[in-house]
Amino acid sequence: MKLWSGRFESGTSQLMDAFNNSIQFDHRMYKEDLSGSLAHAKMLAKMGILTEDELKALVLALKEIEAEIELGSFKFKIEDEDLHMAVEKRLTEKLGDLGKKIHTARSRNDQVALDFRLYVRRECQTIQELIRELMSVLVEHAAVTTDVIMPGYTHMQKAQPVRLAYHLLAYFEMLKRDVSRFEDAYERMSLSPLGAGALAGTSYESDRFLTAEALGFSGPSENAMDSVADRDFAIEFLSASAITMMHLSRLAEEFVIWSTGEFAFIEIGDAYATGSSIMPQKKNPDAAELIRGKSGRVYGDLMALLTVMKGLPMAYNKDMQEDKEPVFDAGDTVKLCLTVFADMLRHTTFKPEVMLHQCKQGFLNATDLADYLVKKGLPFRDAHEVSGKLVAYAIREKKILETLSLEEMQTVSNLIGEDVYEAIDIERCVENKKSYGSTSLDSVNRMLELAKAYLKA
Ligand code: ARG
Repeated sequence: MKLWSGRFESGTSQLMDAFNNSIQFDHRMYKEDLSGSLAHAKMLAKMGILTEDELKALVLALKEIEAEIELGSFKFKIEDEDLHMAVEKRLTEKLGDLGKKIHTARSRNDQVALDFRLYVRRECQTIQELIRELMSVLVEHAAVTTDVIMPGYTHMQKAQPVRLAYHLLAYFEMLKRDVSRFEDAYERMSLSPLGAGALAGTSYESDRFLTAEALGFSGPSENAMDSVADRDFAIEFLSASAITMMHLSRLAEEFVIWSTGEFAFIEIGDAYATGSSIMPQKKNPDAAELIRGKSGRVYGDLMALLTVMKGLPMAYNKDMQEDKEPVFDAGDTVKLCLTVFADMLRHTTFKPEVMLHQCKQGFLNATDLADYLVKKGLPFRDAHEVSGKLVAYAIREKKILETLSLEEMQTVSNLIGEDVYEAIDIERCVENKKSYGSTSLDSVNRMLELAKAYLKA
């Protein structure tokens, strides 16, 4: 017998039950469902809808159900349709008519909106903590690599030398914004839908402020219809998740590139690499590749829910039951990727000599040569031209700028003097950056202090 069977003459088909149920996946919100019911029961008692004795019995039964679920003795059955009805059914098995009173002044529509918000809020918090964990590993590496100089790239072509710490701290900033996106989403979803009823509110003397406060919300939602029909909080969660995955995927891609024999900037620890079944020499960066790959599935989760919600008329529609799996999947994936990344990063060694060596091939100081000529009085565009000519000459001669003789340089510009060698020294090029937020040591040290202070707060 379904809890809603009153107006029906016969039951649903097995196929319909299998198709219609959400209990196979929504049972993971059981904690949220039980705490929602607890808050609701307390409110009903406060309003005189339940007696104090009834409340006591309900509180006890809800605790027992929680224990049953945790022990695995509570069986989630497809016929029960969803978590909410399974719990109500069990309450009624335990308490008889009293169990049937719990649904007074609420509907499954506000119940599911509540459970899902509580679940997503918790995910936001967990993910924030995991992002911060990854950020702290980045800072650990950055703190000991402020003197390591590596090639900076644009278009994947060598551009200018930078500090490794600076490069790592760029990701720190991205992840910091990711944390704040989850924070923002958390705040916006912190209005309680409980007591909204099916769509119109309820005719009982209920107190939605009370339940909102008990559940840690900043208040009840303003418009009951909105709060049972809205899933943009979940979409915001998915969007913050997708953006976080995009950032992880970029760093993962750098790991893949840096761990190649051609680059050899890093060595990923054996704990996070795998071998080949045929090629004995291989050490593959599978963890990084999987993180890069899993970004695709989180984007898919975001697109799935955006598409489910698009065009749905007010208020609740069963389509919305499709909201949970993408959110569960995205949350699981982001949490796993963050955890793996943090540990892989801990097990990664950087190779400063290779990085510095690569800085000395590829004319990463050509901009500094132009800047040198500007200081000697040449307009920047002309200086760019001179530097470019010298690069072309050096390439023809199979040399680098540092190994060109003063005479060779002076054939292109007589403004060049002996002091040019200091100006194009790679470490000097890094240190000469003076602008706020640059790669110079002072600037990177300041970033590092700010990063540490952020993590302490
Ligand atoms: N299982 C439903 C869901 O996940 C719960 C709400 C159902 N409400 C209803 N009136 N059918 O969305």
